[in-house]
Amino acid sequence: MTVKITIRPNGPYLVEGECELYDPTGARIDTSGQPRIALCRCGSSSNKPMCDGTHNKIGFQAADAAKK
Ligand code: FES
Repeated sequence: MTVKITIRPNGPYLVEGECELYDPTGARIDTSGQPRIALCRCGSSSNKPMCDGTHNKIGFQAADAAKK
């Protein structure tokens, strides 16, 4: 199955589809049973690497859209 990653405007990376997620130590982060996850892009989440909505509270402004 193809994994779909969507860059949300001034928000997280939305990952849809089955994937494996690992922390910097190589430990797997359990995402089983979650059809989609949101990865923090603002750096302020208290639940990294997952988005916890803090980007809204801090008024996160993302850089320009992805370069083509
Ligand atoms: S992108 Fe949502 S808390 Fe960072």
